[in-house]
Amino acid sequence: MKPDMEGVLNMKSITVTERKPSVEEYIKLRNSIGWKILQHDKIEKGLNNSTYCVCVEDQGNIIGFGRIVGDGATVFYIQDIMVVPSYQKQKIGTLIMKKIIDYIDNNCIDGAIIGLIAIDELDNFYKKFGFAYNQNNRFYRYND
Ligand SMILES: CC(C)(COP(=O)(O)OP(=O)(O)OC[C@H]1O[C@@H](n2cnc3c(N)ncnc32)[C@H](O)[C@@H]1OP(=O)(O)O)[C@@H](O)C(=O)NCCC(=O)NCCS
Repeated sequence: MKPDMEGVLNMKSITVTERKPSVEEYIKLRNSIGWKILQHDKIEKGLNNSTYCVCVEDQGNIIGFGRIVGDGATVFYIQDIMVVPSYQKQKIGTLIMKKIIDYIDNNCIDGAIIGLIAIDELDNFYKKFGFAYNQNNRFYRYND
């Protein structure tokens, strides 16, 4: 782990756990950043079907989260990278992404597809982890 990451962990009694959050914890995080709240039972199903989940806590309170959905070998899709606003810009998002990329590196086949959807503002955040636009494949829809 890089020294700046150790600093994050030491200074704020922050712990990183590879676990699924409770539905309540997940809703709390979504609320904190203003994301739409989904149906309780559907959240539970979605979390249960995740390939990998990582939670960041400060003294037992969840302050960050990220997960992967996919088939666990050939396709990995990164979703729900969230850090509570008062904890943002302190490398916690980076910590979450490092855990996620480590998991993918340890489980993917050569040639696996690794994807995510993000707003333009976060280009620099994701480029640090090797992500780049594939202009021809930017094709998706929300089911509103
Ligand atoms: C995106 C998010 C997870 C980043 O978490 P974070 O802990 O604040 O990020 P970090 O402190 O690890 O930042 C790492 C780098 O990304 C940059 N960055 C982070 N958030 C940024 C933002 N909103 N806009 C521009 N750059 C940003 C930082 O400036 C930093 O750059 P540096 O390494 O050159 O200093 C967090 O802002 C968040 O939860 N946002 C709301 C939810 C969201 O949009 N999630 C992403 C869905 S695709």
